[in-house]
Parts: sequence; C-alpha cells; structure tokens
Amino acid sequence: MIDLGLVFARFLHYVATTTLAGAAFFPLYAHAGDEPGKLVRWRNGLMLWSAVLSLASGLAWFVFSVANMSGALADVADPEVLASVLRDTGFGAVWTARMILAVVVVVVAAAAHVQSPRSTTGQDLLMSFLAAGMLASLAGAGHAQIEEGWAGVLHVSADAAHLLAAGAWLGGLAPLGFILLGYAGRTGQDGIDVDGVLMRFSGMGYAAVATLVGTGLVNSWLLVGSVSSLLNSTYGLILVAKLVSFGGMLALAAANRFWLVPALVAAGRSGAGEVWRGKLRTHVIGEQGLGLLVLLCVSVLGTVRPAIGQ
Ligand code: HEM
Repeated sequence: MIDLGLVFARFLHYVATTTLAGAAFFPLYAHAGDEPGKLVRWRNGLMLWSAVLSLASGLAWFVFSVANMSGALADVADPEVLASVLRDTGFGAVWTARMILAVVVVVVAAAAHVQSPRSTTGQDLLMSFLAAGMLASLAGAGHAQIEEGWAGVLHVSADAAHLLAAGAWLGGLAPLGFILLGYAGRTGQDGIDVDGVLMRFSGMGYAAVATLVGTGLVNSWLLVGSVSSLLNSTYGLILVAKLVSFGGMLALAAANRFWLVPALVAAGRSGAGEVWRGKLRTHVIGEQGLGLLVLLCVSVLGTVRPAIGQ
C-alpha cells in the first residue's frame, strides 16, 4: 500500500512538473511573433492546474516517503517522526524548499491566469525560471544523491539536465497538441504560423533528445554500470521498458519531422492539409501516451534498488 501510494504520487508529480515546465518554456522558442490570446489563455490555465497538481502530488510524495521511512502510514501523524524527517534528512530539507517553491509557483500562475490573455516576455521568463526550479530540484532527492564528491556533482547536474529536457519535450507536447487541435486554419488565422511552430518545436526536440540520451547514459552508467546488471536486475528490466517506450516516441517524432510536417507544408492551403494535420495530431497523442509510460517507469525506478553491483 505505501509503495503503491509512493509510486502513484511520484507519477502525478512527474506529470505535473514536466507539463508545467514544458508549457512555460513553449513561448520562448515556438512563436516568431506574439503569442495569440487564445493560446495564452489556454496555456495559463494549463500552468495553473499543473502548479496546483505539483503542490498536491509533492505533499503526497512527502507523506508516503515518511511512511516508507518509518514503516507505517499512521506515523505521518506523529510530530516527532515528522520533525526528525524534516530536521535530520537531506530529503526533508530539499522537500521543504521545493514545497515552498510550489506555493510561490501556484500564486504566480494564478496571477498570470487572471491577467490572461495579456502576457509579457518578462512573465514568460519568470514562469520558466520558477518551473525549471521546480523540475530540476528533483535531482536533489532520490538516486542522484547516492555518490559523494565529483561523481555526486556529475550525477546531480546530469539528472537536473535530464529532467529539464524531459519537461521541454514531454511538457511541450501539450501546447503543440492544442495548436494542432485548436487551429484548423494555417498561417494568418489568429496570427499563428502553425508550420513555423512545428518546425521550431522539432528544433527544440533535437536538443531535448540529445540531452536526454547523453544524461540518460550518465545516469545509467552510475546506477546500472553494465549490460549484465541491466538484463539481470529488476531495476535494469524496468529501465529497458522505459527505453523501449522512448524508442517508440523517437520513431513517432522522426516520422513527424521527416514525413508528416514536410507533407503538411507541401499541401499548403489545399484540402489535403487537413489529412496530414489529422495524422500529426494522432502522432502527437501517441508520443504523449508513450511519454506517460516513460514517466510511469521512472516513478517505479526511483523506489527500486539500483542495478549497480547486482
Ligand atoms: C523521453 C525520454 C525520457 C524521459 C522523459 C526521461 C525522464 C526521466 C525522469 C523524469 C527521471 C527522474 C529523474 C529524477 O527524479 O531524479 C529519469 C531518470 C532516469 N533516466 Fe530518463 N528519461 C528519458 C530518457 C532516458 C534515456 C534515453 C535514458 C538512458 C539512456 C534514461 C535513463 C534514466 C535513468 C538511469 C534514470 C534514473 C532513474 C532513477 O533511478 O531515479 N532516460 N528519466
């Protein structure tokens, strides 16, 4: 029961913090000009909900972690147990800071939502900075904390970059999906350049995938260490399931970039455009589904003993 609760709280927290970061980063690279009001309103709503879910799931993650450490869920109500986790563990200190940040993010997201559809570059940068802090600070807890010295610095930095790249790609799929759903027209409707957004998203995707693979290999080297540990441990097999899901996402993203988007651009304003846009929508939803599977694997991985040395 405690393990299941912890995995579920972790899953919701990864979904919420990656969505928040991806939605916050989106206007920084996706639009050549101003972001249309309809999209600002929708994106601010998404960020507010993700911020609220980040706070709620973060508190649940803390509760199940305390229960995991003490051995019983009832102990969470014991002030002494709570005080010792908050005072005497690195996790307690990091989580206190993260939950304070989560409250700040909810307040800033609510203020931005009230001001919709107006948004400024300053607002977008502030929200991106706070959302990046929420996501990257996860590297301060969990398996990235195993090593000391230089190996510790390498692991925490690689893990923080891994998390930010995961947020940019997975979280960015939400506003991209909305644009493909919300904007039947093309360039000029509501001032949005759908083809341009698709090309710029692909550009960001290259950087995110390269970062995920590079930092993922660092994580794997430090937590798995060998192919035999990868194939002969529970941790290793869950990581393999994650990599298979990642492979599926990569295949869909490559099909988008080298087949569907060029076909969409070539179709121009002809009716055929709608057919290619439909296929693109399906692929984006497919990428999101596989992305949730990746986050589910990660939610379990963090509760399993790493494969290194097994
Ligand atoms: C879509 C692609 C990917 C996404 C969204 C993703 C996401 C994540 C997330 C959210 C974490 C948790 C980090 C933390 O809480 O500290 C993580 C950890 C990890 N990732 Fe990835 N990742 C991706 C691709 C990869 C790849 C390609 C590799 C290997 C080459 C990899 C290997 C790992 C490892 C070993 C961990 C540590 C898990 C742990 O023990 O906590 N990931 N990943």
